[in-house]
Amino acid sequence: MSKVESSLKKPELANEGRKKIDWVADRMDILNEIKWKYEGEQPLDGSSISICLHLEAKTAYMAQVLADLGARVSITSSNPLSTQDDVAAALAEYGVEVHSWYGATEEEYNSFLNKVLDIKPHLLIDDGGDLVDLIHNTRRDLIKGIIGGSEETTTGVQRLRAREAEGKLEFPMLAVNDAYCKQLFDNRYGTGQSVWDGIIRTTNLVVAGKTVVVAGYGWCGKGVAMRAKGLGARVIITETDPIRASEAWMDGFRVMPMQEAAVQGDFFITVTGCRDIIRGEHFRVMKDGAILANAGHFDVEINIPELSEQSLIEEEVRKNIRKYEMKDGRRIYLLAEGRLVNLAAGDGHPVEIMDMSFGLQVLSLLCLKENPDLEKGVHRVPDEIDREVAYLKLKSLNVSIDELTPAQKEYLTSS
Ligand code: ADE
Repeated sequence: MSKVESSLKKPELANEGRKKIDWVADRMDILNEIKWKYEGEQPLDGSSISICLHLEAKTAYMAQVLADLGARVSITSSNPLSTQDDVAAALAEYGVEVHSWYGATEEEYNSFLNKVLDIKPHLLIDDGGDLVDLIHNTRRDLIKGIIGGSEETTTGVQRLRAREAEGKLEFPMLAVNDAYCKQLFDNRYGTGQSVWDGIIRTTNLVVAGKTVVVAGYGWCGKGVAMRAKGLGARVIITETDPIRASEAWMDGFRVMPMQEAAVQGDFFITVTGCRDIIRGEHFRVMKDGAILANAGHFDVEINIPELSEQSLIEEEVRKNIRKYEMKDGRRIYLLAEGRLVNLAAGDGHPVEIMDMSFGLQVLSLLCLKENPDLEKGVHRVPDEIDREVAYLKLKSLNVSIDELTPAQKEYLTSS
């Protein structure tokens, strides 16, 4: 493909990025099946797709597949710290328009969001809702050309639902986040593994025997807690939802308010989608050496200004670890500036997991393209797409399952 105009920090790293993309491409069986099935038809020919997703190798490979299916693709990252510059460079060389670099300032981040919209998209992929917000707030001229889009995350779907409730969502959005093949695998096993990968590679500390406080027991929190237990930690869950709190208790975890947990924790991980989960009154009672990490979409779950206010000395003590030394000598360590620890200090979810999520994404865009008259609003991903991804997953695992006999089908459907 021909080279297009991109905004890159380190174009000279394209060879390194290419190796990363090729590694994952070989292992994303679902995306490859979809590509082989549709490439001859070029179903996305003539479509412009704007993407805002964490720009690492798996995302880059999905963007390549969309381009291979005929689309013009422009991409930026959904977090200023989740772009891998080598991957971005390699993707641009492939012919995808890339506007992103690691460590973008807020101003650069916003200008990149605007740049990916300059291709006048027919279709969108959003992660966290920034692209959709920008279109509705300042790029309204684009709305008439948009068939629809898909949203990757819990936070993004929450924002879409709020916008829809106010009557302010002007096109259809498929909630990829809510698909079974997303929640059960990406949110649970993906977050469960990648959060610990990010924490362990950043700190090089042991988890066994430590007390881990997980704030939030949604699918992502369940995954983080389950893996903490597997690593030998004593796990405490904090929740505001009584059903989830009961579930955590039945799953064998201790459940208590953050104020009580704050005294006990060695590691704290926020996974709630809300703000100020760990704040002033909690920092005041934490143990010396406590480590804080966030795995929610936005960097508001740990109140960093209050942490800063309470501390005498702030210092980067190791890559992605910032020390806050309190007036009484206690030290609290914050990982990755309170941004998504699995992406800002790691490579995101494992390859085979993102393969499922991105399989859902590509099939969702194909579905939107085939159904251009879908009503505006938030829609579930059609069940057939969820099941197709599950079948492709089983195929890639070489696992077969039983089929219902005609008599069984009748038994299940007759009154
Ligand atoms: N890689 C790309 N997008 C991701 C996401 N939303 N979560 C984790 N890893 C990712």
